[in-house]
Amino acid sequence: MSVNDEWRRRSLAAVWHPCTQMKLHAHAAQPLIPVARAEGVWLYDFDGRRYLDGVSSWWVNLFGHSHPAIRAALIEQLNSLDHVMLAGFTHAPVVELSERLAALTGLGHAFYASDGASATEIALKMSAHYWRNVGRAEKCCFVGVAGGYHGETVGALAVTDIALFREAYAPLVRLAATVASPDARQAAAGEDAAAVAERAAAALGDWLAEHHEQTAAVIVEPLVQCAAGMAMHDPLYLRRVRELCDSYQVHLVVDEIAVGFGRTGTMFAHTQAGIRPDFICLSKGLTGGTLPLSAVLTTDQVYAAFYDDDVARGFLHSHSYTGNPLACRAALATLDLFEQTDALRANRATAERLNAQLAALHQHSRVRHGRHLGMLWAWDIASSLPDFARRYARHALAQGVLLRPIGHTLYLMPPYVLSEAEGEHLAQGALAALQATLAEEAEGAASQSEGAVDGV
Ligand SMILES: Cc1ncc(COP(=O)(O)O)c(C=O)c1O
Repeated sequence: MSVNDEWRRRSLAAVWHPCTQMKLHAHAAQPLIPVARAEGVWLYDFDGRRYLDGVSSWWVNLFGHSHPAIRAALIEQLNSLDHVMLAGFTHAPVVELSERLAALTGLGHAFYASDGASATEIALKMSAHYWRNVGRAEKCCFVGVAGGYHGETVGALAVTDIALFREAYAPLVRLAATVASPDARQAAAGEDAAAVAERAAAALGDWLAEHHEQTAAVIVEPLVQCAAGMAMHDPLYLRRVRELCDSYQVHLVVDEIAVGFGRTGTMFAHTQAGIRPDFICLSKGLTGGTLPLSAVLTTDQVYAAFYDDDVARGFLHSHSYTGNPLACRAALATLDLFEQTDALRANRATAERLNAQLAALHQHSRVRHGRHLGMLWAWDIASSLPDFARRYARHALAQGVLLRPIGHTLYLMPPYVLSEAEGEHLAQGALAALQATLAEEAEGAASQSEGAVDGV
């Protein structure tokens, strides 16, 4: 038994893996990949094989794995302060990070948690509690966008509109309202992305006209609904949502968890619409993909409504690791890298180069709705295979590339440090995996799991 096989066996016996039907790993065709170490864009298994991390390990990694600057910052932090509770105590990394996030976003009073779903819940709770504190307790409902994804804890599932993740827990969830998505792929003949955005905004307007008195907040993923299959929309939609929220006195929560920190070409996606939200949720890339950390930032007006002699009017939410110094230090080192490497500008050059390397994929006859924004590429693949994603991912691994399509949407979200040669490997591997998957389809491949639907 190889070292890989031994870790596989032990993992399947001891670990319950996320977003996974564990039985699938019983098939030799769907093996777990044990990772021994990672560096730059590469993941290395125990037998010496390497895989280019084409999805930045669930969209968290920005500057490559094991970045020396982030590693050094973490070691230095570990030598002075590992952790202290943040209630009644404070420390340099959390203060410095909060100051820098405020300067970057124009919002302040950063509240911390460890994952994206918790950030969503914090924003929703803060919004509803704000309205209660200002005497409008009836404003406690939320509106999300069709196909939206904001995390999978029971509270976050209220605004996550993906049946596969929500159906089994429907009785536990206090469902938010769902309005039409501005997904530009819905454009009818003669329509452009802006027209779809106007239509979707009008649907939100209709809903708010009727329900604004009970509505605390609208939550949106700015520019890209990632988990929905990299559904992109015109920034006009965000401007219209902002206008509607203003006229109906409803908060606007922008969930930048997946798209923040440069992924769409600007530091934060919503700035491309020139809007200022009432809440921003951040996570994933915040620590450059090293440690779990999330943050919610809001306005002085919201903060002031909690500032009171009455304890119960305060935001009494907490997590044990809130504002963990190591995670905050990793985030500071990540923000330093943005400045030191002029990352947003460098990304424009990297994206242009990768775009050219992807020419054959862009032109593939089975590709529909090719789309690209910043350091994110997606294509819908016309394939009759119900388990296209799973088959594709397997072929991609055989090419030395980690790619996991969402349904029939193939996408790339590589770390920003992709070199020219690595870009070539990614582009070639992505194309070869597509050809191999479609060859199986042509052979009339009997699906291992007919009707199977894949997660992210
Ligand atoms: C837009 C968005 N919000 C929230 C989340 C949830 O984050 P986490 O998986 O850290 O709970 C995700 C995760 O993919 C996401 O893409």
